[in-house]
Amino acid sequence: MLKNKNSDDTIDSLLESKPAKSYSIVAKIFHWGFVLVFVYGISKQVDDLKQLADNSLLRFEMAFAAVFLLMLLARLIYMKKTQTSALPSNTSHLQKGAAKTVHYGMYVCLASISISGILIGTLYWANIKSGFVIEAVISVHEFSFTVIYGLIAIHIIAALYHRFLQDGVWNSMVPFWKEQSKLD
Ligand code: HEM
Ligand code: HEM
Repeated sequence: MLKNKNSDDTIDSLLESKPAKSYSIVAKIFHWGFVLVFVYGISKQVDDLKQLADNSLLRFEMAFAAVFLLMLLARLIYMKKTQTSALPSNTSHLQKGAAKTVHYGMYVCLASISISGILIGTLYWANIKSGFVIEAVISVHEFSFTVIYGLIAIHIIAALYHRFLQDGVWNSMVPFWKEQSKLD
């Protein structure tokens, strides 16, 4: 008797629950577009400071980093103004805080990568090609990569964890390997 009531309650709550939230098309284009552009940027990375002696490479790197930074700002403003996390409302404060920290951490690293890159290029262009200042900026550039690789790994593991929980977080952003609705 009690068992039937419990299962009725479960079905009621599933029927009453709102459909899982999904990010807008623009948000998905920003997210996946950035993944592609970031991978492209890494594939084109400068391996050695001396490579910047090639003026066209220096200009390309600077233009790429400037456009990257502007797009990142546009993404942040758009996401803050129009979108909210797909985490279910009953998620613990600790988990919500962790997700926020990783997301903002990735924004900070992406900004730091492009700003330090632009600074390296500017110093090189101003003929400051060696010494403490340029070496310190290169260290910031490289350190930002070390941190973001760690954050991306945590982010992907968290996304996969939600895929197995089947709580709609994966489906809200990822267009492949879709989870089935619990009502199916
Ligand atoms: C360069 C790699 C990546 C970066 C920098 C990144 C960054 C972000 C950021 C900042 C957000 C928060 C929403 C926003 O402001 O756009 C987000 C959301 C999300 N990402 Fe990624 N992402 C990356 C790769 C991936 C991959 C490979 C997956 C899946 C396999 C993934 C799955 C998700 C999901 C499911 C959300 C929604 C999370 C929620 O609503 O709380 N991301 N991503
Ligand atoms: C968003 C744009 C950029 C991306 C994605 C990018 C990517 C990378 C990567 C993956 C590395 C290797 C980091 C490591 O060892 O962990 C690197 C190093 C470096 N990048 Fe960038 N970079 C960008 C912008 C720039 C710009 C604008 C410049 C200068 C014009 C620049 C100059 C350098 C230099 C000098 C190094 C160090 C090379 C060495 O080890 O001597 N980068 N970059």
